[in-house]
Amino acid sequence: MAIIPDNVFAETVTEVEHYTDRLFRFRLTRPASFRFRSGEFVMIGLPPKTEDDKVVYRAYSIASPSWDETIEFYSIKVPDGPLTEHLQKIKTGDTVLMRKKPTGTLVLDALLPGKTLWMISTGTGFAPFASLIRDPEAYEKFDQVIVTHTCRNAAELTYSINTVEAVKSDPLVGEFARDRLHLVTTTTREETATMGRITTLMDDGTLYDLLGRGGLDRDQDRVMICGSMAMLNDVKSRLEDMGFVEGANSAPGDFVVERAFVD
Ligand code: A2P
Repeated sequence: MAIIPDNVFAETVTEVEHYTDRLFRFRLTRPASFRFRSGEFVMIGLPPKTEDDKVVYRAYSIASPSWDETIEFYSIKVPDGPLTEHLQKIKTGDTVLMRKKPTGTLVLDALLPGKTLWMISTGTGFAPFASLIRDPEAYEKFDQVIVTHTCRNAAELTYSINTVEAVKSDPLVGEFARDRLHLVTTTTREETATMGRITTLMDDGTLYDLLGRGGLDRDQDRVMICGSMAMLNDVKSRLEDMGFVEGANSAPGDFVVERAFVD
């Protein structure tokens, strides 16, 4: 096998679960020295087959919390996608490469203190929030944690629904999450209980009615956004119209944004 560079971990696949023909999740062993903050992403790739093969790396949000013994990822399967075309075929026992340096802006440190943490996601943009809602720090810093997940159809919501359910019975965070973590799922192309883009549900107030609370308020609410570029821009402009200021690791603010990378 080709040589693995010093800045890359070679990890073993411990679990694979397919949800639809477009979506799956997998877990890798975690190197003892690998540290990250919940919400960050890493570059992952597949081992080269020959000495001359160039590894294709793509950014993946880590979907498991920073305390977990294994590392979870949630992925789309892109037809003919240079990485996902092969990655979707991985099996338990296979090797996946992971660059050693995690990074990202969807971290609690990039937000100013507040009362309610909102996490707005579409598609695989739910992945970093799967990490954060399993981190006790989210509940130490915020009274309420609200996650929204919008997908085209009901089957694409399986991962978020299952993850939130598991969090509520988790021995570490279940006690905090049970009454303080709220998931709002919506679909745009198949009939479910709540239909519509998140932007529409914000504009017409349905989102706030569903949760039995008022609209977003800069004094109390902090927001993280992850999903398609179009959704990020549309939600971001609404927040900016309400006076919210974008934050970063170096200068915490009222909201932070990251696009769901592989598309
Ligand atoms: P729609 O079906 O109306 O395009 P995708 O699978 O293409 O990544 O989309 C995930 C979800 O994000 C879909 O439900 C899609 O709705 C929604 N979406 C796409 N663009 C926007 C946008 N600009 N604002 C809000 N939601 C969007």
